[in-house]
Amino acid sequence: MSVYFAPMEGITGRLFRSSFEEVFPHTIDKYFSPFIASGVTKGVAGKDLKELSPDQNKGFVLVPQLLTNDSRDFANTAKTLQGMGYDEINLNLGCPSKTVVSKKRGSGMLEDPERLEAFLEEAFSFSDQNGIRLSLKTRLGSASDEEFVRLLSIYDCYPVHELIIHLRVRTDYYKLPLRPGWFDFAAKNSKLKLVYNGDIQSRREMEQIQKTYPAADVMIGRGFLMRPWMLEESASGEPGEILGRENPGAFRKFWQFHDRLYQRYKEEMPGERAVLFKCKELWFYMAQSFDTASEDRGRENKKAMKAIKKSQYLSDYEGAIEILRHPG
Ligand SMILES: Cc1cc2nc3c(=O)[nH]c(=O)nc-3n(C[C@H](O)[C@H](O)[C@H](O)COP(=O)(O)O)c2cc1C
Repeated sequence: MSVYFAPMEGITGRLFRSSFEEVFPHTIDKYFSPFIASGVTKGVAGKDLKELSPDQNKGFVLVPQLLTNDSRDFANTAKTLQGMGYDEINLNLGCPSKTVVSKKRGSGMLEDPERLEAFLEEAFSFSDQNGIRLSLKTRLGSASDEEFVRLLSIYDCYPVHELIIHLRVRTDYYKLPLRPGWFDFAAKNSKLKLVYNGDIQSRREMEQIQKTYPAADVMIGRGFLMRPWMLEESASGEPGEILGRENPGAFRKFWQFHDRLYQRYKEEMPGERAVLFKCKELWFYMAQSFDTASEDRGRENKKAMKAIKKSQYLSDYEGAIEILRHPG
């Protein structure tokens, strides 16, 4: 089974990917880039070209993701990416954000299956002619998971390189409960290579999916943010296990990763505010690996998390994380 790192806009950019790969080498089979939103006239933005530049993504496999519903734009962007050395591309059919859906992109494309089909027809025909492998990352539907029956029958008509299924509908966003039964449906009713995505937070959960669906691969996002050492833990680990004295190896690796990434942000981002913004966003997830419930240690950690949120300068931030560095 292969393990993929999910695309996460604003988080899993080139600095994140290379830091992760340095601390956890060769544990991820493929990284998927956060979506790039190109345009027929504007092409691919300079910042996206830099994000995807092969010399900024050395030593691992990266699949660029496109967010488009326009076949001309798809073709232009795919050509540009192929020119950079990418023969595999992923199409975003899952983004639930209002601004994206209102333009009928991302999961907005699932609302109109006929239009989706017309787009896929052209996109796959272009990819086929140009030797590009095209994979899809979809949700189960726009408002109802019943929509997935038709969507899957459409996907099945195309040479989809792999079908990544985030087991939610658009209106579930990221928080409402997963609908894992639909993966079963897909496994029984599709001939495509499938990838399971949604809420995997431990090696044990990942291995459970592997056992149930031996032909499928998995994609993990937030689980790797909360617990970057996840693939190195013992399979018997509890899903909610927190960092502390009991798992010194994980604790060390966690800080190694944090420090590497923090260093990169400081070197490459313009100013303290930008660095702090990135770090605070990450701590929203990473905080969940720390004890914030127990009497003494938990209270200290909670204070540190608050201080991270409030920090205005890197010196505040560095002071706050110092408290968390002690396993208690
Ligand atoms: C902050 C954030 C940004 C995301 N950005 C993207 C994106 O650019 N493209 C995409 O296909 N999915 C994106 N996703 C969805 C994830 O790739 C993934 O499908 C989702 O989080 C469920 O998997 P998980 O529970 O393992 O995180 C994003 C999710 C989050 C939380």
